[in-house]
Amino acid sequence: MASKLWEKNFEINKEIERFTVGSDREMDLYLAKYDVMGSMAHIIMLESIGLLGRDELPRLLTELRDIYDTCERGEFVIEDGVEDVHSQVELMLTRRLGDMGKKIHSGRSRNDQVLVDLKLFTRHELKEVALAVVKLFDELIAKSDRYNNVLMPGYTHLQVAMPSSFGLWFGAHAESLADDMLFLSAAYRMTNRNPLGSAAGYGSSFPLDREMTTRLLGFESMDYNVVYAQMGRGKTERNVAFAMASVAGTLSKLAFDACLFNSQNFSFVSLPKECTTGSSIMPHKKNPDVFELIRAKSNKLQALPQQIQLIMNNLPTGYFRDLQIIKEVFLPAFTELKDCLAMAAWIISRIEVNEHILDNPIYDPMFSVEEVNRLAASGMPFRDAYKTVGLEIEEGRFVPDKNICHTHAGSIGNLCNDRITQMMGTTMDSFGFDAVEKAEKELLDRARP
Ligand code: ARG
Repeated sequence: MASKLWEKNFEINKEIERFTVGSDREMDLYLAKYDVMGSMAHIIMLESIGLLGRDELPRLLTELRDIYDTCERGEFVIEDGVEDVHSQVELMLTRRLGDMGKKIHSGRSRNDQVLVDLKLFTRHELKEVALAVVKLFDELIAKSDRYNNVLMPGYTHLQVAMPSSFGLWFGAHAESLADDMLFLSAAYRMTNRNPLGSAAGYGSSFPLDREMTTRLLGFESMDYNVVYAQMGRGKTERNVAFAMASVAGTLSKLAFDACLFNSQNFSFVSLPKECTTGSSIMPHKKNPDVFELIRAKSNKLQALPQQIQLIMNNLPTGYFRDLQIIKEVFLPAFTELKDCLAMAAWIISRIEVNEHILDNPIYDPMFSVEEVNRLAASGMPFRDAYKTVGLEIEEGRFVPDKNICHTHAGSIGNLCNDRITQMMGTTMDSFGFDAVEKAEKELLDRARP
């Protein structure tokens, strides 16, 4: 059995060991390759300030690159008795290179190691979420453009209200995603700051070159104050979770709409057969389970910021083991959100729209305001026009003019999808993905044997 990094001359109780490690080894597997990248940058910096020999650096880098490749192949394991990913990487290096492997921990603590791992992991995942959001956004805009002028009823209080269109409905969810993207971009920029060098939360007396590790890891800047760097643990995750929750909120509303509009009583849209599920007793069923699950998962994701907030609630300044528990809810959440986004994009691309909804006279009253407006435009006071049309409806004399799309209701035919798309593009440019990708590639290439 491997020993602990902090082992002294007494044994830790097995139950205490089980309880303190919990699911952390499993969670740390999410972070493994980022832990290795953080170590690469740290040792390049250590060599530059004379804490590692010239000849030692390339050998350590080569071994780290090998461990990185093991992670990429999905073969990295944390062995029995090894506490966490940080201990496992150090153990592997020490096994391969002896004392040289033990040198890499100068000037750092697992506290800033896990911080940098989380930042690198989150930065990567946020990019993937942003790309998945764009994919769904594009599908929604495409559908919005295609059904630009196909009318559907708009509702208030779930009562038929005024004419809307499929163009507006699809486009509204797209614009909602464009707003969510602003939060993702802010969360990304907050994440994209280097905590490495803050060590246990109070820095180090070694002359660590934090500018250097910031550059090597492609961070936009650093968490300058070492105490704040540690304080950022939990805060960063909560803010990222908030951005994710914003996306989840859009997904959840879209999913509920889709379930409702797909019901026989609405029949506004129909889902592709291959994405529906059946019943064991009712042979006719084609249920929208996918959207129901997207809705539930998205609702769960909306609880994530609160979960994180409560885990770290009232913690004073400094590191606490409480923070470890955030990983359990935070790390798996990205997969869930990306999965929901991909599913939603897939179905939206195939969803079919009923272009003949308005043949059903139950929707006729939604044209009442158009008729009032027509009378008002021809000189009748609005209140009188309102009364006139109201009476016509009550007495069953109302004849709707359904051909309003290109005439009065300018907002229906005028979706501004190009403006929304431009807005999304500007936000996507603000992330700075290219600089990050370039730095990560350079670092990994430098470690190639
Ligand atoms: N597993 C710990 C965490 O996620 C690692 C950080 C350092 N551990 C410690 N006892 N100081 O927070």
